[in-house]
Amino acid sequence: MYAEDEARLLAEVATGESLERLVRRRVGGEPLEHLLGWVQFGGLRLAVGPGVFVPRSRTQVLVDVALEHVSGADAPLVVEVCCGVAPVGSAVLAARPDAVVHAADLDARALVHARTNLGPAAGVWCGDLLRPLPAGLRGRVDVLVANAPYVPTHAIALMPPEARDHEPHHTLDGGSDGADLHRRIAGEAASWLAPDGLVAVETGREQADTTVEALTRAGLETSVRFDDEVDGTAVLARRPR
Ligand SMILES: C[S@@+](CC[C@H](N)C(=O)[O-])C[C@H]1O[C@@H](n2cnc3c(N)ncnc32)[C@H](O)[C@@H]1O
Repeated sequence: MYAEDEARLLAEVATGESLERLVRRRVGGEPLEHLLGWVQFGGLRLAVGPGVFVPRSRTQVLVDVALEHVSGADAPLVVEVCCGVAPVGSAVLAARPDAVVHAADLDARALVHARTNLGPAAGVWCGDLLRPLPAGLRGRVDVLVANAPYVPTHAIALMPPEARDHEPHHTLDGGSDGADLHRRIAGEAASWLAPDGLVAVETGREQADTTVEALTRAGLETSVRFDDEVDGTAVLARRPR
């Protein structure tokens, strides 16, 4: 986006000295979305703010996979873990208002935005991975989506300053090979899935094999989806019927 476009957007949320302050912060490297208080995700304008991961367009791959998987189901149960501001759950709900959506993250700051984005009907839970989800969902989940942190620790220093300096490391850091959280999700996910239920995990293109291995070890039938349009990669893992 050109600087003039950014200036026009900032002028929509502030005027005078406040606007000048926002422009200075932007020039200092803060993500535009943190300053605006919103991010465009698919057709939605989602709430976001400082100290929180900004959803990327590549995560649309998880939305598409989830919607495809539940296309024939009534009131499907969809869970987003490591949800941040809950872009996937929000997009699923926008397309399928009959869906029952639950979202969880360990970051209470992100969950304030997730609650705004999802609206009052969704379940929003705070805690480690799947642990905070209501026990009654076990064995009933049609789709479990996760864009968990997957940047290898050593690669965080190579990220653009907007991410490296303004998105907390716990939103980026996936451990030495980037797949630490994926292995943990693989270890926990299967028992939450309904028969034929699906796990969809966003990965880097070059990391997909490691995540496939972890989910295959959990007894799930795996495949990989590449979406060149949004530059997204998702590992899919289905519980056999
Ligand atoms: C890459 S961000 C993605 C957020 C959101 N899914 C999105 O696409 O915008 C990863 C998220 O995982 C959360 N997270 C990291 N470790 C976690 C854990 N052990 N349990 C729950 N959430 C975790 C972070 O707080 C962050 O919100």
